[in-house]
Amino acid sequence: MMDVETESTGTGTSVEETTENLCDNPTRDTLAEGLMGLLKPTVDRLDERVRATRISQLELKQELDSVLDELKKIAESQKSLPILDEYVKKLMVSKQKITIVSALLQNSQERLNKIHETVAKESARRRIILETEELASTSGVNKKKPKMTKLLMDTPILSHITQSDYLTVYEPAEDSYLMLDALEKEIDVIQELQPVVCLEVGSGSGINITAFSKVFPSCFCFCTDINRRACEITLATSKLNDTVIECINADLMKNIRPNSVDILIFNPPYVVTESLEIKSSKISRAWAGGIKGREVIDNFLKIVPDVLSEKGICYMLVIDENKPEEITNIMSDMLFDTTIVVKRKAWNEKLKVLKFSRNG
Ligand SMILES: C[S@@+](CC[C@H](N)C(=O)[O-])C[C@H]1O[C@@H](n2cnc3c(N)ncnc32)[C@H](O)[C@@H]1O
Repeated sequence: MMDVETESTGTGTSVEETTENLCDNPTRDTLAEGLMGLLKPTVDRLDERVRATRISQLELKQELDSVLDELKKIAESQKSLPILDEYVKKLMVSKQKITIVSALLQNSQERLNKIHETVAKESARRRIILETEELASTSGVNKKKPKMTKLLMDTPILSHITQSDYLTVYEPAEDSYLMLDALEKEIDVIQELQPVVCLEVGSGSGINITAFSKVFPSCFCFCTDINRRACEITLATSKLNDTVIECINADLMKNIRPNSVDILIFNPPYVVTESLEIKSSKISRAWAGGIKGREVIDNFLKIVPDVLSEKGICYMLVIDENKPEEITNIMSDMLFDTTIVVKRKAWNEKLKVLKFSRNG
């Protein structure tokens, strides 16, 4: 059965994990934002005073040091004046006390600095959440039920990939971004599933698997690509974006352990072409899908039930020429439900991201 959900929305800036469990209580967050605002000037003032006290303590210590030196000199030259010894001793005790107070003050200042930093960071983060929320409600989105902003699938940095790399590796295009939007839309569902393993087939530049790994860093993320250079680029993308991803230069899901994958992602070569083209050694292999654009897709679908875990979900991109209704039937025969997560028209292509999950 295929349900049409909504049109996709764009991707944006991600908010750190800690924000996620704050999202469903806007009143609390508004209060917290207010408290942060109240707290910050007090911390600032306290910080300023501790700093001023420390400076005067240091000045006092320097003064005492020089008085002490003077007294020592006098005491040495006036050995007959024992009264001075008494003062020298007292001054030394005072100096020790000042040193201890100074160390305590320094410690307090360091702790204050940390509090200061945390307050500033938290205030900035909450401001972003509240501003985004405000924007959404004033623009008519979420008017009925204001919701806090949730985690977003950021587009990874791809600045290391050159135009000459794109002669051999698929350059992210509308389809790649639609897949990101689909994953972003599904973040809550995926989170609920608590995925342990995520596999992307045909990672290309690594755009999707890297974005996924950023949002789900504790999930083991790996990918395959038939193009060796794509594997190298994916690894470089992962590194640049500070994620940990394994990449295997393999055909589809060859040798993947059965029932092991919780989230499966595939933006396949879907363009209708001659059959021969899907075996090409050129860049066309990245998009050529053979008859109905379905040759690679159909080979992939056959293995989905084997590879997916019991709770596993698969997200796959198609165009209308791939006949999504037929795909729905194929999946239904294998006891899977199909829904459309997002759809978009790009030039002459009607793109959709389908979601397959076991029925019953
Ligand atoms: C349309 S591109 C998508 C790339 C990337 N995931 C994205 O969204 O930008 C398809 C990718 O699948 C890879 N591919 C094609 N046939 C494959 C196969 N049989 N097994 C694994 N990867 C394959 C291509 O090399 C290409 O990188």
